Amino acid sequence: MKNENIYILAIESSCDDTSAAVLHNNRVLSNIVATQKIHEEYGGVVPELASRAHQQNIVPVVHQALAKANIDKKQLSAIAFTRGPGLMGSLLVGTSFAKSLSLGLNIPLIEVNHMQAHILAHFIKDDAQNTPEFPFLAMTISGGHTQIVKISDYFEMEILGETLDDAVGEAFDKSAKLLGLPYPGGPLIDKYAALGNPKKFPFPKPKVEGVNFSFSGLKTSILYFIQRETQKDPDFITKNINDICASIQHTIIQILTDKLKKAVKQTGIKQVAIGGGVSANSGIRTKLKQMESSHQWKTFIPKFEYCTDNAAMIGIVGYLKYLEQQFSSQSITAKARYVI
Ligand code: KG4
Ligand code: ZN
Repeated sequence: MKNENIYILAIESSCDDTSAAVLHNNRVLSNIVATQKIHEEYGGVVPELASRAHQQNIVPVVHQALAKANIDKKQLSAIAFTRGPGLMGSLLVGTSFAKSLSLGLNIPLIEVNHMQAHILAHFIKDDAQNTPEFPFLAMTISGGHTQIVKISDYFEMEILGETLDDAVGEAFDKSAKLLGLPYPGGPLIDKYAALGNPKKFPFPKPKVEGVNFSFSGLKTSILYFIQRETQKDPDFITKNINDICASIQHTIIQILTDKLKKAVKQTGIKQVAIGGGVSANSGIRTKLKQMESSHQWKTFIPKFEYCTDNAAMIGIVGYLKYLEQQFSSQSITAKARYVI
């Protein structure tokens, strides 16, 4: 049968990771990610530098992905790429590369929505990963987004709620910046939090309607808290870093799980998946696992490598779209704002 051996080359370049993956049907053969270190010294992603780094990285990353998969480009069935959302200068590199390669190889081109990919990463066939059944709820938590989405089918998604200001990843990164930690601070907060007391410093939780979120107030209350305490003791942060990180993380996890509980109550759907960079956080992973027994939810937590930005998740969407022959034309353009 024609659809038995589909090889997809996937390209992701929406923010500051250049990634390429090769999939054989729904299985990942390779998933190469080049993380751009240059942004660390600026305390956040510098768009101009990100697009330049993508240009340098994209050819070697694609070569590595093909070599690791042991696939010749002539065997490829289609090229999938991230069309958006993301930084325009970054998206343009992946988009142009994918278009040229599909044209050169005379194979179909498949555009992918990055946020859909964070959700559909759960359909990557992997012995260590379970697959949700429709319908399920997905909470996408990344550096650019915070949403709760109802997934009725692969491409039937409805946003139930989202952040009204900062994304949860930004809340982690901006809090870390206030503590003098380098970018991206999320993983560092996670690391210190493991050693601290989460109840030591209580921070207020925002009051937001429905299943929407807000994180800007938390950032401000952390700022005032740090200013107040360092006036009393200039070494306050160094002495209390573990407890401060544990308290910030605890507050963020409570905000996220409170809204998830609300969404489950509202829809009656007890299958809950997470996706996006913040789903790598060990606190949210543990909390969600606990909800399986305390709330009888079925939870789906991606493998670490499919949490933060990666091309394997773009590849699985490419595969699903290939099966439906959902191909894109050569006139397609990148889309910085692109709703699910
Ligand atoms: O999905 P992603 O790689 O890129 C976007 O699409 O935004 O998410 C990156 C975000 C960053 O804000 C980073 O700090 C956060 O994910 N992140 C974490 C952890 N690992 C990555 N936040 C908290 N704990 C972690 N372990
Ligand atoms: Zn992402």
